[in-house]
Order: sequence, then structure tokens, then C-alpha cells
Amino acid sequence: MCGIIGILGREPVAAHLVESLKRLEYRGYDSAGVATLEPDGVLTRRRAEGKLRNLEARLVKEPLAGVIGIGHTRWATHGAPTEDNAHPHATDRVAVVHNGIIENYRELKDELIAAGHIFASETDTEVVAQLVDHQLAAGRTPQQAVAATLKRLSGAFALAFLFPGEDDLIIGARRGSPLAVGWGDGEMYLGSDAIALAPFTDRITYLEEGDWVVVRRCGAEVHDEHDAIVARPVAIVTASAFQVDRGNHRHFMAKEIHEQPEVIGHTLVHYLDLAADRIRLPEVPPFDWAKLDRLTIVACGTAFYAGLTAKYWFERLARLPVEIDIASEFRYREPPLTAGGLALFVSQSGETADTLASLRYCKAHGLHTAAVVNVSTSTIAREAEVVFPTLAGPEIGVASTKAYTCQLAVLAALAVAAGRARGVLSAEDERTLVRALGDLPGLVSKALRLEPKVERLARQIAKAKDVIYLGRGSSYPLALEGALKLKEISYIHAEGYAAGELKHGPIALIDETMPVIVIAPHDRIFEKTVSNMQEVAARGGKIILITDERGAAEAAVPTLETIVLPDMPATVMPLVYAVPVQMLAYHTAVFMGTDVDQPRNLAKSVTVE
Ligand code: G6P
Repeated sequence: MCGIIGILGREPVAAHLVESLKRLEYRGYDSAGVATLEPDGVLTRRRAEGKLRNLEARLVKEPLAGVIGIGHTRWATHGAPTEDNAHPHATDRVAVVHNGIIENYRELKDELIAAGHIFASETDTEVVAQLVDHQLAAGRTPQQAVAATLKRLSGAFALAFLFPGEDDLIIGARRGSPLAVGWGDGEMYLGSDAIALAPFTDRITYLEEGDWVVVRRCGAEVHDEHDAIVARPVAIVTASAFQVDRGNHRHFMAKEIHEQPEVIGHTLVHYLDLAADRIRLPEVPPFDWAKLDRLTIVACGTAFYAGLTAKYWFERLARLPVEIDIASEFRYREPPLTAGGLALFVSQSGETADTLASLRYCKAHGLHTAAVVNVSTSTIAREAEVVFPTLAGPEIGVASTKAYTCQLAVLAALAVAAGRARGVLSAEDERTLVRALGDLPGLVSKALRLEPKVERLARQIAKAKDVIYLGRGSSYPLALEGALKLKEISYIHAEGYAAGELKHGPIALIDETMPVIVIAPHDRIFEKTVSNMQEVAARGGKIILITDERGAAEAAVPTLETIVLPDMPATVMPLVYAVPVQMLAYHTAVFMGTDVDQPRNLAKSVTVE
């Protein structure tokens, strides 16, 4: 996660750029940089390694006078935090700042090098500058060059471009990472969030997914992903909203669902060395994965379902037996434990009373304790021997969404680390899995595009009294999580089952009024789930199938609706398939008119037994 800012001002902007970057420093501070067009029209950069104060010191010694500029504060992903890798990245024709990951940068870089481009950094970002440069050199206008470049990029990102000789133009783009336009008086702004723009304006336009924007001092022209000009509202952001900003969204839950490409990417770069395609854990664990004969996972609610998914990963990728339990059962069951073993606790808040009590029980029995937590200052984070953080940011909606997928991202990375340490995975397996994990922000972004279809489907679900979710293998925990999401925010009764269990009871409930949501990617057990769907169809049940292109082509079962995701490696499916499942619960609750962010009787953090 990095922070970006752009200002079209009337006075020198360098100090204002730095002021905004200070507000964005929470997003990263490995390096910082600004670029302005100096009064002679020449693009000039100042960049510095480390915290923003280094850039500030640089600007004192070498001031800038330009009245238009862009700035960046970096959290390093591709390439070390050096000055060469600091943004803005520039050619003679363009400068760019970037937040996010360009997933296909390797292919693009090879192509550009073959075409004669010379690279000055190790970053994924520089391919964007070079691609735009390539288009400009071919005679395209800045708008045409950016539009053509965006079509070549995959991944999740926000970008801002500055062009030498164009002293009334900044172009911005967002896909998966946030970007907002600020409206001043004769001045205009672009920034990663409204907080960055707060010193200058409270009039904000939040760009939608896929949008790109041409900003001039007289205003902003927004284009959608198909390049059509679109109207996006200007919102007045109040002072209190700056604290916890809902953006364009009606509810925090919707905002948090849409933040997932960015926060998953941000979390993963703490666990993956994307340049070397290796797992790189943020902390060296005080235990040896290779010596463990068992892993104990304990959690509550949605975090428990993340842990249950991890059981499939640890067993498959690391051949490590996993025992998993709900914390409130674990602590009172007083399970016999072997000292020197490992217990892993999963919690968004890090304060859940039963999870904390289970952690203390394990510590008292001489186990190593590790916690996957979102709140780094929480009790569980403090008391666990090692912390594997999720970097989802504050989650306000009571129903957990982005914290859940970030927990899954961390757990998947840990399972790959364990698999490698235990000699189950080869270096090549690790490379393939790390690449698949690195593709997650882009895949989650694609899943979010299914929202209009999911919203239409939610109208049907809102009429149901009961809903069944089915899944097999690593889709089974997601079936449980889907049912939990639906019941906690829409108050519709829902149950999740392992698809193979259907015939042992739940099938008795199936009739033509019962929606059955089947989560069935085309994996190695797809055919088994198809048989279960046939059993449902034979009894008149209404099937909603969530699958991929191959699954949709081969299922051959009548469905009320089929939600089709892209084909993807099996390991990442539980994260990507979570997105339509979350959106379905969200839109059903919106149709039902419930209090989505604060559903009745629930609490975000349960610090009582
Ligand atoms: C509450 C929340 C759930 C959450 C569970 C565990 O029930 O409403 O969303 O999954 O607690 O919380 P934790 O903070 O430990 O993940």
C-alpha cells in the first residue's frame, strides 16, 4: 500500500504535496518523492530513501517552484527501498506515481526492453511510465496514451500521471486501489483518500472501479473502463467523516468488500518476495515447521472458518495434521497437548475472550503460540509468542469481510512456508504458489465486477425463509461462512453443509421454495458436487451455482442462476469465491432493509464468554 497525490495549483505546490504525503504516511514510508513541472516546463523530480523528512530536507536544499505536481510515499513491493526505486518514475515524456501491483509487469518489461526501452529501476511501476512513453512517442495524446496503457495492465492499482509541457493536466486511474478527486477554487487535486486532500478541500469525487480521469484546473472529466465519459457525484466530506470515511459506499460493509483487492495485496507483500517468487515471513518463527507433528488452530466465528480453510491448505501443501476447534469449546474441553507443539489463533480484533483464554491455556501447556490478528496492539497480539499480522485496516462493519480474506491470505502463505520447510513443496511449487497468491488482488477485482448480477440474484434470495449453502473440500468452510454472513445481516435462516452430507439429513428440507447455493469451482472433486446438485434438482430445489468457466460448461444441471468466476489455481479459490458470497449476503440484507453495519444482537468484538 502506497499513498499518491497530485495537485494542479496556482502557487508552488511542493510544500502542499509534502503536507498531503504526511497524511498518507500511514500507507508506507520506505521512500518518498515528488515531481513538478518547473516554470520552464521541465519535469523535475526530488526523491529520497526513508521517511518523508528526508524528502523535506532535500527540498530545502533543492527547492521546486512548479505549480503542478505529483507525489508519492512508498511501501516497497517490487525492488528495495532505494532512491532509484522511489516514485515518481519518469521518462522524457511522462512521470507516474503508483499504488498497487502491476501483475503482468514481467511480460511488459520484456516486451519494452525488446523495443529498446531502458529501465532505471527494479519496480513494476516503471513499465507503466515506459508504456505511456511508447504511446506518446508514436504520436498519441496523453489521454490516448494512458487509455491504451491501462488496457495492457493487469492487477490492482491507482495511478497519477504528469506530462512535461502540459502545465494544466494530470491524469489519474483506479482499478482495485482507491483514488479520489478533490475540487478547489481554480485548483484541483487527486489523492489516495479524502484525508490526504482535507487541507485543501472537502469537495470530493470518489472514482469508481475501472475509472480514469483527466484533471485540469477548470475541473475533471471522468471516463469509465470502456473510455465513455461518465458523471460521478461530488460529495461534501465532513470533518468527522474524515476519521472513518465510507467513500462512495452506502455502508462500511460495502466499502470493506471493495477494499479487498488493495488490502489483500498490502497484506501479501508482507509475506511474499514478489521479485524472487518466494515466501518471506515478516518474522522468523520461534519454531521449526519441519519438526511439528501437529498444528492446533483455534478461533471464533468468521475467523474460525478462515482457520478451517487453512486446515485444508496445511494438510495438503505441508502434510501437517491440523486439529481445529472453536475457542469456546477448546478452552473448556481441556484438550491434552504436547509441549513444544504449535497453536495458531486467528482473530480480527485480537480481543475475543474465548480465543484469548485458549491462547493462555496453550501457553500454560508449553506450546508455541502464533496469532493471525488484524489489530496489532490487541491483547492476543501482545500475548502470542509470534504475530502474523493481517493488514486489512480498521474493519467497521460488524460482519467480517476484508479481515476474513486477509486472514486467508496470511494462512495460505504460512501453509506454503510450512510445505517448503517440511520438504513437501519444491522450489518450483513454491514459485507457482507465490505467483498464484500474487495474482489475488487482480482476481478479487474481477470477482467484484460480478456485483450487478449478484445484486439481481439477491432480490430472489430476499424472498426466501431458509437458504442452504453447499461446498466440498476447501469450499466447505466457505459454505459455512456464506450461511453465517447471510443470517447475521439479513436475518434469513441459512445453514452451510459439506455437499456430501446433504443426503444425511438436509435433503429432507429441499423443496421448490428452498434456494441452494452451491460453491463448486472446477476442482478435482467437482464431479462429486455435480452429483449432489443433481440430487437437489431432482427434488425441485432452486440451485444457485458459483463456479468457474469450466464448471459452468460441464455442470449440466438446471440452475436458477450461475455466477461464473475466472478459472484460477485451486489454492486461491477460497479467497476469490468469498467475494460473490459476501456480496450476496450484503445485497440481500440491503433489500431486507436491515441495519447492515450493525446487525441486531451482534458485536464486533466479543470480550465476554
Ligand atoms: C464476533 C464478530 C465476528 C467475528 C467473531 C470473532 O462474533 O461479529 O465477525 O468473526 O466475533 O472475532 P475475532 O475478532 O476474534 O475475529
